[in-house]
Amino acid sequence: MTPMAIVILAAGSGTRMKSPQPKVLHEVGGAPLLHHVLATARQFNPDRLLVVTGEHTEPIKERMREFGPLPEFIRQNKPLGTGHAVAAAREQLANFTGNVIILYGDAPFVRNDTLKELATLKENVDLAILGFETKNPSAYGRLVLDERGELAKIVEFKDATDVEKRITLCNSGVVSISIELLFELLGQVRPNPVTDEYYLTDIVAIAHARGLHCHVKSCNECETVGINSPTELSVAEDLFQENSRRNAIDAGATLLAPDTIYFSYDTKLSPGCIIEPYVIFGNQVRVESEARICSFSHLCGCSIETGATVGPFARIRPNSTVGRGSKVGNFVELKEAILEHRAKANHLSYLGNTRIGENTNIGAGTITCNYNGKTKHKTDIGKDAFIGSNSTLIAPVEIGDSAMTAAGSTITSDVPHGALGVSRARQSIIKGFAARFFGNLKTSKE
Ligand code: UD1
Ligand code: CA
Repeated sequence: MTPMAIVILAAGSGTRMKSPQPKVLHEVGGAPLLHHVLATARQFNPDRLLVVTGEHTEPIKERMREFGPLPEFIRQNKPLGTGHAVAAAREQLANFTGNVIILYGDAPFVRNDTLKELATLKENVDLAILGFETKNPSAYGRLVLDERGELAKIVEFKDATDVEKRITLCNSGVVSISIELLFELLGQVRPNPVTDEYYLTDIVAIAHARGLHCHVKSCNECETVGINSPTELSVAEDLFQENSRRNAIDAGATLLAPDTIYFSYDTKLSPGCIIEPYVIFGNQVRVESEARICSFSHLCGCSIETGATVGPFARIRPNSTVGRGSKVGNFVELKEAILEHRAKANHLSYLGNTRIGENTNIGAGTITCNYNGKTKHKTDIGKDAFIGSNSTLIAPVEIGDSAMTAAGSTITSDVPHGALGVSRARQSIIKGFAARFFGNLKTSKE
């Protein structure tokens, strides 16, 4: 197979986003736009994977480290246009021979299958462009065909005549071409007279004038959404959510009121789980089959195992596991908490840096005091234990298997296997006190 390089352009100034953040770090489904594009590119297993960045190279690298090994980075010193950005990769690709696919870092939805089809250039095709038909071509570049129906040029919206503006076949930005031809054509691109930028899109007219064959491969317009403004970002997020919901349902999850459930790029729902209305999945959540996430719950960085129930109104924070058949009820917050099988924390608790053994019951209002203002400490609770309501467990502390704490206790030292830990003031009764105290008050109220 011909070697393949993928070059992703991410050096634009992104002024239309009106945000100090680099455009490609804006997020869709909880991951930067650039991550979506890189993930698609990686599925392709290219021989070389390059990202062109500009003044924001360092913050972009820093952020992308969270998402696995970095690709090769190339610096475009000034954002002088998409053609100029590709040309910046010339030196780094000097010893590469083969085909190149160019992707734009602000277009996160291109599918891998589409790229594969685009890359499989037919024999007589010199250059393939991914295009799309749309009822609303807005500011996309227009694909202009010649009288034989061949792609003759791409005209940018700003430069388009009124007739050209009516064209509904648009440019996605994705190009597939051999590396030799790419740099040869780029060498002939001149700056746009109005913007002074070198447009990658101009290579089409140059190729056509030389009698080369430029092919348009069409795809669905939802794959080609390019994000330039906050409004377009919100439209992209909607599209992402719709897609995620549809995929989850198709894969066998039950979503009650799908429109109210929000996904992240890496949410994993197993067939047979049930998600009630108004649930938000932050990053890195896995829900296994027969688990149920009840309404108004917020989950992030956790694993909900088979048959577990979470919520309503639960907050599950990173590094938590709700084990098989376990229950986490209303107003319970978990952080770095492992609930083993069939453990229960049904009401009003904060459980942080904690392991809770099998079958253990955590009473309402239990708090693990894991933080002393300086460091975090662990609470370890064994299996078959019973933590009385409103227990305050001051970490580090261990509660043994089958042990108990009395309701309302402040537990500062370990409770051994099978023992009861109780720590609360003894109650005393003062006869007649209330009657005396309220005596006059009661009469005046009556
Ligand atoms: C571009 C295309 C347009 C197409 C649209 C699809 C050009 C000239 N126009 O327009 O035909 O319909 O995408 O979404 O290519 N970039 C750099 N360096 C630069 C300039 C841009 O790396 O100097 C990067 C940007 O970060 C971005 C991508 O290239 O990821 C596209 O640039 P952008 O300015 O968004 O182009 P559009 O105006 O959207
Ligand atoms: Ca764009």
